[in-house]
Amino acid sequence: MSVRRLAEDTVQPATFAFSKENAAWAEATIKKYPEGREQSAVIPLLMRAQEQDGWVTRAAIEKIADMLGMAYIRVLEVATFYTQFQLQPVGTRAHVQVCGTTPCMLRGAEDLIKVCKKKIAGDPFTLNEGGTLSWEEVECQGACVNAPMVMIFKDTFEDLTPERLEEIIDLFEAGKGTDVVPGPQIDRIYSAPIGGLTTLQAPAEEKKPARASKAKEEQAVSVPPSNAAKPSTVADITNPTLKTPATAKKAAAKNVKVEGETVDKSKPAKKPR
Ligand code: FES
Repeated sequence: MSVRRLAEDTVQPATFAFSKENAAWAEATIKKYPEGREQSAVIPLLMRAQEQDGWVTRAAIEKIADMLGMAYIRVLEVATFYTQFQLQPVGTRAHVQVCGTTPCMLRGAEDLIKVCKKKIAGDPFTLNEGGTLSWEEVECQGACVNAPMVMIFKDTFEDLTPERLEEIIDLFEAGKGTDVVPGPQIDRIYSAPIGGLTTLQAPAEEKKPARASKAKEEQAVSVPPSNAAKPSTVADITNPTLKTPATAKKAAAKNVKVEGETVDKSKPAKKPR
């Protein structure tokens, strides 16, 4: 892994401010955490700053540190640790992240990197002439079964050939990135086998059980998904009256108080005299 440092001062903006909408979002996000635990919002806030400006600037790091009551160095540590944070300007229309880990490499990632070098810039993290495109090599993005692949912003483009990647880069450069359908770029459904199912197929002669009537089948598919695990409101998360480990120390201390000795059930109980 390369050393991750902040960009040169020459490209760093003097100030950073969240847009009105993002500032409201940041405020609500901070409130999700209990009092005294606001620092937990550091990653979401850094990511929102990156989505707003394209990369994480020094001014953004300092602004977020101030918002969360953290030392600048603590936020800098987070921003430089996670490679998802871009520490220098990237292409305004596309920053192409080419997976170079083993499965993708075995399936042609080197050819994808050659395309990036040819169409964007000879070196990673270098902007093209118009400042619209950049690229980098990244580690596994979790789509190995559809290798080779690239990620652009939040979308993955899989089962790529060099020719298809060239087309995709051209579309992003032309401002038509949203026209490209993410996922496999060949005739494959998600990560199912190429050419259709090869397993879990019903034998050709197998017939449906007689009792599975059509009406029952329709009823089965019409059942809506359960909301059992979904909170109906976030009020609990932001309710300041709810106790947290920090505010309920006395109650917690009571719970851990050991009263009497532990009984060893493997020994016979003593008879009362
Ligand atoms: S190795 Fe490329 S996505 Fe996993």
